[in-house]
Amino acid sequence: MKKIPIIIDCDPGHDDAIALVLALSDEKLDVKAITVVGGNQPVEKTGQNTLRILAILGKQVPVAFGTSTPLLVKPYHAQVHGESGLDGPKMPEPIQKQLDISAVELLAKTVEESNEPITLVPTGTLMNIAIFLLSYPHLKSKIKQISMMGGSAVSGCSGPGDVAEFNVWVDYHASHIVFHSGIPIIMHGYDVTNKAVIPYEHNEKFREHGKVGIFVADLLDFFGKPFRGHWPGTPIHDACAIAWLIAPEIFETKKVHVAIDLDGEWTYGATVVDFTGESGQSPNAEVVFDIDRDRFEEMLHSACKTYEEKERQL
Ligand code: RIB
Ligand code: CA
Repeated sequence: MKKIPIIIDCDPGHDDAIALVLALSDEKLDVKAITVVGGNQPVEKTGQNTLRILAILGKQVPVAFGTSTPLLVKPYHAQVHGESGLDGPKMPEPIQKQLDISAVELLAKTVEESNEPITLVPTGTLMNIAIFLLSYPHLKSKIKQISMMGGSAVSGCSGPGDVAEFNVWVDYHASHIVFHSGIPIIMHGYDVTNKAVIPYEHNEKFREHGKVGIFVADLLDFFGKPFRGHWPGTPIHDACAIAWLIAPEIFETKKVHVAIDLDGEWTYGATVVDFTGESGQSPNAEVVFDIDRDRFEEMLHSACKTYEEKERQL
């Protein structure tokens, strides 16, 4: 079966970690490189988290660190992932080092060397992707699509009006550049990712799948804490951007125009999704708004089992 070549740009982050667990377990995907961005925590932390996650998974993939600094505004870091950016699980020492090139250079090198168009999977802020697109415009034609976690049509948690989604909001200028790049975008925003939940009582089921299952359960236990009592489970935002590449049939999408509000005093950084076509603007994204949650959870369990089976063969 022909694998889909992808580059993941992430800011681990608990849900980024689960996205990596899924991506690196599936035969359909060829993870060519992982680039790291600041977001949940500065890139020094999200970078080390990425290397430690690869150590748990027993995988070696080219990794390069990018920036924590938005193009025009001040950096902002979430605390929901804890001080380390990956609080909760006990993390091993890395088994590899990051490359001594930047994330943008690794993006360019990987795309240039690929003999087929690459899918980008950003699951954090979009600074690395925007700088890559601005610095290497001739490589845009070798980007097949961008399957990203970010944005939302109807709700948010960031910005003065709490109407923006974190990844898009932290550097909304970078997000604007990406959404106007002309590259096909599949936008997994809160509309779908808040439905991609693992009920708290399911966490323990992951512990049945060896070391990686225990890792995922520990991630769910920590990341799920702030949602308990008012949400049906832990939202695994970032894994949606990977799951769509593996099983698009479990998602519902609509091609619409998405604008990033750049000027609103209370709404800057919000994604304005034109579901009705009223703006008269042609669609620039495929917005994902529904998911078969049971199938999604099954994918995560089978991903953990894949590592367990490999562990047994060693
Ligand atoms: O808004 C959710 C996004 O912000 C996820 O990517 C999470 O990891 C954080 O980066
Ligand atoms: Ca993330």
